[in-house]
Amino acid sequence: MTARITISTERLMAETIVIANQKGGVGKTTTAINLAAALALLKQATLLIDIDPQGNATSGLGCDHKTYTPSVYHVIVELMPLEKTIKGTIIPTLHVCGSGPELVGAEVELVPALARESRLKGALSAVKDRFKYVIIDCPPSLGLLTINALNAANKVIIPIQGEYYSMEGLAHFLETIKTVKSALNPSLDIEGGVLTMFDSRMVLSNQVRAEVEKYFGKSLFKTVIPRNIRLAEAPGFGQCIFQYDPKSKGAEAYADFARELLARRGIPEDGPENEGEQKASAATENQS
Ligand SMILES: Nc1ncnc2c1ncn2[C@@H]1O[C@H](COP(=O)(O)OP(=O)(O)OP(=O)(O)O)[C@@H](O)[C@H]1O
Ligand SMILES: [Mg+2]
Repeated sequence: MTARITISTERLMAETIVIANQKGGVGKTTTAINLAAALALLKQATLLIDIDPQGNATSGLGCDHKTYTPSVYHVIVELMPLEKTIKGTIIPTLHVCGSGPELVGAEVELVPALARESRLKGALSAVKDRFKYVIIDCPPSLGLLTINALNAANKVIIPIQGEYYSMEGLAHFLETIKTVKSALNPSLDIEGGVLTMFDSRMVLSNQVRAEVEKYFGKSLFKTVIPRNIRLAEAPGFGQCIFQYDPKSKGAEAYADFARELLARRGIPEDGPENEGEQKASAATENQS
């Protein structure tokens, strides 16, 4: 009698989630870094792409933004294969495609380029089978870099700061998402909003929450990210919150946030066993 060996033929096909809001300083990068790290720690092979010329997600994960090369710039301007820009991190299931100093000029350089809105989308398709999630951190603007990210994405998460003027510009941003969906990327949907830097002791924060709930309805994440000094300190050490202070309120909140995101996809709390780790490592062989 011959034993039968079952080999799983399930292929990974990354879901791409963009973290965007044209308003500056609302917690996009903090959310991108710590959501990506939390998903990776929940055994989901994750790639974080930093498409912001400020390079805060790159340096926040311990890579030097000023010397990061080749970077996402080379992918979208020079059509370099994305996998050549990917580096490993201290978390084996988390990889980064960083922003380098040249990215500052990319918006201008892309203007005359062919298929200028689809550069990232095209590049991503070659590595999508190696990751479960691709998280993209966007600049605080609606230029070609953000459009590239939205065009490459399945979902958008919009961080909203729990403060008074948070809703300013939101209607315009939601309109932009609709335009990108109808003109470029029909598979783009809003995953939801997430409240960041929230202080429940402030009456104002609670007013913002009520207002944001009206906008997002059920798609607003139940998890709220509190204002937490440890979250602000961690990037200065080039560390995600789970490395810098895993017991902090900030770490707890981002872990809950990632679990809520997975629960929306029917994935159990502690994450499934998957082959993502090996595939992610293969993606970066000789790169890190
Ligand atoms: N929950 C939090 N608690 C305390 N500080 C926070 C929190 N989230 C973010 N910060 C701090 O607030 C500032 C802005 O956050 P962050 O850089 O994540 O925003 P951003 O939207 O990416 O900004 P930009 O638009 O410039 O890219 C940073 O100094 C960050 O460390
Ligand atoms: Mg940022």
